[in-house]
Amino acid sequence: MEKVRLGLVGLGNMGKSHRALLRSGQVPNMELTAICGRAATLPEAEPGEAQFTDVDEMIRSGLIDAILIATPHFSHTTIGIAALNSGLHVCVEKPLSVHKADCERLIAAHAARPELVFAAMFQMRTAPLWQEVRKLVGSGDLGTIRRIHWDCSDWFRSEFYYASGGWRATWKGEGGGVLLNQCPHHLDLFQWIFGLPQKVHGFCQFGRYHQIEVEDDVTAYFHFADGSHAVFNTSTGETPGNPRLEIIADNGRVTVQPEKISWIKNLVPMNQWSQETTSGFAKPDTELVEIPVPARTGQHAEILQNFADAILSGAPLLTPAAEGIHSIELANAILLSSWLGRTIALPMDAAHYERELQHRIDTSTFQKKILDPAKFSVSQEDFAKSFR
Ligand SMILES: NC(=O)c1ccc[n+]([C@@H]2O[C@H](COP(=O)([O-])OP(=O)(O)OC[C@H]3O[C@@H](n4cnc5c(N)ncnc54)[C@H](O)[C@@H]3O)[C@@H](O)[C@H]2O)c1
Repeated sequence: MEKVRLGLVGLGNMGKSHRALLRSGQVPNMELTAICGRAATLPEAEPGEAQFTDVDEMIRSGLIDAILIATPHFSHTTIGIAALNSGLHVCVEKPLSVHKADCERLIAAHAARPELVFAAMFQMRTAPLWQEVRKLVGSGDLGTIRRIHWDCSDWFRSEFYYASGGWRATWKGEGGGVLLNQCPHHLDLFQWIFGLPQKVHGFCQFGRYHQIEVEDDVTAYFHFADGSHAVFNTSTGETPGNPRLEIIADNGRVTVQPEKISWIKNLVPMNQWSQETTSGFAKPDTELVEIPVPARTGQHAEILQNFADAILSGAPLLTPAAEGIHSIELANAILLSSWLGRTIALPMDAAHYERELQHRIDTSTFQKKILDPAKFSVSQEDFAKSFR
């Protein structure tokens, strides 16, 4: 195989953007040989591109080696399992699934076909900013990390956005709000950089800013086994946002803002200073270290390129899909904690969460406002700016 023949399913905001990317030739060893969407969403066919309205037909067509799944989240599980069972390599959009039990089902389907490549679209892992932060934390240069504060306040979405699709922001259609749609990226980065906490306490507000039944305002507390802790907050109602990660460690304070990492370094580590100083009030001297961040690159293209390289030549995956369960475990634990009003220990009980979510689906009486899709226009430029 010289080029991976890819089938794309789902032709909404993300699918259209993937199609344009693939057609632009930015992923040279991958060709888009088939697309699948609802009849109304199918664009004019391009040469060499078969079109389907039934994903099972596309999976069985023999026209594709791999599938890229860009449909609403619940169907990541069903389409992913069908594709893996049929011997296709799979790249699934984030989130891996809506809840932990579905993630486990998907991962089990892959475990039965380990020769297949299974990746997830966590493109923010390719951003130089986050790679540098991960490198810094992993280097141990910060000393013991004591506290983390991650403010993900740049996910503003309008009322119009939520009314643009019947599945959005409902328990039944999406299985959650900002934690399932926008924040899987940051929750993935969190666990990729810092690992998973031992306990989670969540404070979600449901429909605080929008006419929706799911969470659009979240504050969560994560507690680690060594006593360090994190506060993570996010919302789709605030603008302007001020996205910012702060890491407080023995060797100083690191502030991460878009494309900028600043470390105010303690010249004597704070625990050592505290033990050794004879002053009650003096603090260690500091120096400012600005950590250079290389220019950003094409994030989705890099994940697809890496997916193709893994299929064609066994390159290691940047974003193995199985790791997608961790961001879902965090998202689910924050919601479960908010529903039950208590702290959740990890690993979380997947079946319990699934039952609680199903209960909300079954008992929902929420009447969602839905707009005529024709009135909802998304410029590719606005869409591309919406994730970083
Ligand atoms: N990686 C990212 O940065 C990023 C950004 C946006 C969205 N996403 C993810 O992409 C997925 C889709 O989000 P979106 O914003 O494009 O949604 P959307 O509603 O704009 O598009 C979804 C499309 O899937 C189609 N669809 C649904 N079920 C289908 C099926 N069985 N077969 C064929 N087509 C089907 C719908 O008709 C619709 O056109 C979500 O899981 C979302 O989390 C990822």
